[in-house]
Amino acid sequence: MEDKIKVVIADDIRETRQNIRALLSFDERIEVIGEAENGEDAIFLAREAHPDIILMDVNMPVKNGIKATEEISLESPETSVIVISVQSEQEYMRKAMAAGARDYIAKPFSDEDLINTIIRTYNMEERRRQKTTEIKADEVIDSKVITVFSTKGGVGKTTIASNLAVTIARQTKKRVALLDLDLFFGNVAIHLNVSSKANISELVKVIGSLDVDLVEDFLVSHFSGVRVLAAPNKPEYAEYITPQHIEKILAVLRKKYHYIIIDTAQSFGENTLAVLDASEKILFVSTMDLPAIKNINTGLELMKTLKYPDSKIHIVLNRVSEQFGVKYSDFENAVKHKIWAAIPEDNTTVINSVNKGLPFVMTRSVTQVSKKVYEMGTKLTASQNQALNEKRFLQRILGF
Ligand SMILES: Nc1ncnc2c1ncn2[C@@H]1O[C@H](COP(=O)(O)OP(=O)(O)OP(=O)(O)O)[C@@H](O)[C@H]1O
Ligand SMILES: [Mg+2]
Repeated sequence: MEDKIKVVIADDIRETRQNIRALLSFDERIEVIGEAENGEDAIFLAREAHPDIILMDVNMPVKNGIKATEEISLESPETSVIVISVQSEQEYMRKAMAAGARDYIAKPFSDEDLINTIIRTYNMEERRRQKTTEIKADEVIDSKVITVFSTKGGVGKTTIASNLAVTIARQTKKRVALLDLDLFFGNVAIHLNVSSKANISELVKVIGSLDVDLVEDFLVSHFSGVRVLAAPNKPEYAEYITPQHIEKILAVLRKKYHYIIIDTAQSFGENTLAVLDASEKILFVSTMDLPAIKNINTGLELMKTLKYPDSKIHIVLNRVSEQFGVKYSDFENAVKHKIWAAIPEDNTTVINSVNKGLPFVMTRSVTQVSKKVYEMGTKLTASQNQALNEKRFLQRILGF
């Protein structure tokens, strides 16, 4: 007979524990092996009884569910915690996921919801365990994070990020990941016409056990070879995603992907800051109109206070057209930065490309927009090769 899923119920209210126990007794795949009335007991049971799953209430005396989750995920990683909370405690849920909970379920829930959540979490963990046993020695690769950012919406971030990712994948034949971190309204999946059933909010549910193999389950392949991490399919899921999650995702991707291209939302929220901090290059996109210039200045000032070196920031002008009154030199004087790349306006090419979900760098490679994006790719990857060569040279002459 198959092993049963061993479950511990942690809740300070005895009646709740009994109700859950009764409910789970109807499913023969599940066996309740213990009950805890506070976080301390839950930690003890995790250590001693090695349950597969702990159903963890948030508000408990002695030690609350979040603290307990944190300790269990570090101390007994073979046990998966599912946090149970009431809907209004969204902030707790977020903290619980950051603490290493594998999933959460909101009260009131149905029998079916609870059982399905337990089984799904268990299966996911089993799968991960099988995979980790197959893991090979970590190959260290040189990885570069390139973030496409702007302080104004609708300037072309997603267009540039997706076409650039495809370009770099084709130019370098290296592994390229494209992350949609416009968490609330991300549409990279639409731009590239990939299905996004797997996405970052699903990934965050297993963040505690994320590794180079598991992360692959949440990336979608585009036919160009780019692997895409899509935005949540509902904006409300975006709230659970924290800077710690993003740092972990990037750390894992860096082990395998040579280039990580990130599309962002136009904000300086904590998630965006985490991404900007972690980036080797920021492509700061702007158009040439006056409001955009004002916005870009505010953004550049902030980056200065964050002590980002100028070499990290590249100004990309998009939708450049002959008709603009502002000259490049005027723009450069106004923002006190050189323009690193200028992409022409080409409505037909760009709009057709988005509507068909086909990146224009693949379908319309002879256009000026494509050529400019291609040039950007060359510059970004050339400096990578150069840096690598310099490093190798130093290693050779200094002997380390
Ligand atoms: N070079 C270009 N020529 C013509 N149209 C363009 C160009 N770049 C982008 N666009 C168009 O501008 C609009 C906004 O582009 P996109 O969605 O890439 O911007 P964004 O900065 O990601 O926007 P958001 O802030 O909403 O995420 C789209 O309709 C796109 O087709
Ligand atoms: Mg966008």
